[in-house]
Amino acid sequence: MSPAKLARTEFPSDEGLPLFGHVFAARRDLLGLLRRFHGHGSAVWTRAVGLRILCLLGPDATQLVLKNAGEAFSSKLGWAHFVEHVFPGAIMTMDGREHRVQRRIMQVAFTRRALREYVAAMGPRIASALDDWAEGERRIYPVLKELTLSVAASTFTGDVQDAAAINSAFVHAVEASIAILRVDLWPTPYFRGKRGRDYLFERFSRMLPDKRSGDAPDLFSEMCRAESEEGERFRDEEIVNHMIFLMMAAHDTATSAITTMVYLLAKNPEWQERLRASMPDQDHLDYDGLGALEELGWVLDEALRLYPPLAVIPRMTVAPVPFEDAVIPKGTLVGIAPVLNHHLPDLWTQPTAFDPERFSDARAEHKRHRYAFVPFGGGAHLCIGQHFATLEIKTVMHGLLRRFRWSIPEGYELPWQIMPIAKPKDGLPMQITRL
Ligand code: HEM
Repeated sequence: MSPAKLARTEFPSDEGLPLFGHVFAARRDLLGLLRRFHGHGSAVWTRAVGLRILCLLGPDATQLVLKNAGEAFSSKLGWAHFVEHVFPGAIMTMDGREHRVQRRIMQVAFTRRALREYVAAMGPRIASALDDWAEGERRIYPVLKELTLSVAASTFTGDVQDAAAINSAFVHAVEASIAILRVDLWPTPYFRGKRGRDYLFERFSRMLPDKRSGDAPDLFSEMCRAESEEGERFRDEEIVNHMIFLMMAAHDTATSAITTMVYLLAKNPEWQERLRASMPDQDHLDYDGLGALEELGWVLDEALRLYPPLAVIPRMTVAPVPFEDAVIPKGTLVGIAPVLNHHLPDLWTQPTAFDPERFSDARAEHKRHRYAFVPFGGGAHLCIGQHFATLEIKTVMHGLLRRFRWSIPEGYELPWQIMPIAKPKDGLPMQITRL
């Protein structure tokens, strides 16, 4: 091996404070930190609360990890630390054959036919929830979170009874997934999260017999009936675990995206008016009607580009992986960073500017590299709820644009908390006026 090659087997490192590493800097300005790492190269060692992480940066590195040609990057081991204790049996914590089988079955609950049914159920519910909204100065994030949680509870289970208890159990389970202190003792967030999960498991298990025997169009029932082309079906416990994880995967991400859109449209009122003028004059839209909202689709993509709800994605290597002129050792926790790809100046024109038309067919900046735009990930674990999310978000935005005009004070900049799922630290206060 040449001396140059020997030197490159250790990737550059930027580890920050002893013990805590860069955890505080990441909370303050994750994108700035990732840009600094990228200045060192495409693979940079860092540290966060005792974990040593190799950041793999830029679209080529993202492609290597998400395409995962040799199956050397484990999603199971990458996510285990965050997800396994409160979301056991989650599809994201599966690899290889097990993942392929579970995904094949789950896919049946996300076909176009099933999505049409979900949209038909959620459209009137969202419209009537928005009819009840008060105008005035409001923190929009908590209100949107409540809305998406109740949409998920009703569309997923067809049952809005106990919605408040289900929602609070979820909120606790999600908080426990990032708890640093993992002690199962009251009153820690971890304890509350574990009890939240127990409640959900018991609640969904009780609903299972009816869902198995019925023919309702909700996601829970679809999951009970789902059968892959190979004839595989879910066992009872698998369905309950998947339902719990699906609800968690669906609600914070969608809330984050809607909040960002609302914020960007308040900052760019000409786009708010442009979209409002293009909204069909209908109380709610069906699957095809939502699909036709092209400009709203650009604004959604631009919001996901600027503020991807999942800014970084973890994996762990289960075999040595050659990278550039070096080797990533087996057992390395790696992180890829969609948020960095979304801001690279060689891929995007004026990357920090709000410019939805960059997603138009004429410009199609997102096609400059296959992994330039990855808010929903890619490869085997590509978000299974991508189309569901798009339909739900468009339904909410259509309802909001038709009913309200909203604004923020001149010069206001949203204080974002990027990890674990992007959200505004101040709840995003804004002035809402009914039209
Ligand atoms: C704007 C909204 C959403 C965003 C940005 C988003 C983002 C993502 C990303 C980046 C991944 C890949 C994670 C990885 O590779 O480790 C993912 C996976 C997943 N998402 Fe979403 N998601 C959204 C909405 C939803 C919704 C609405 C659902 C369910 C209805 C959902 C269900 C899932 C599931 C089950 C997985 C794991 C798939 C697998 O491991 O095979 N997501 N999502």
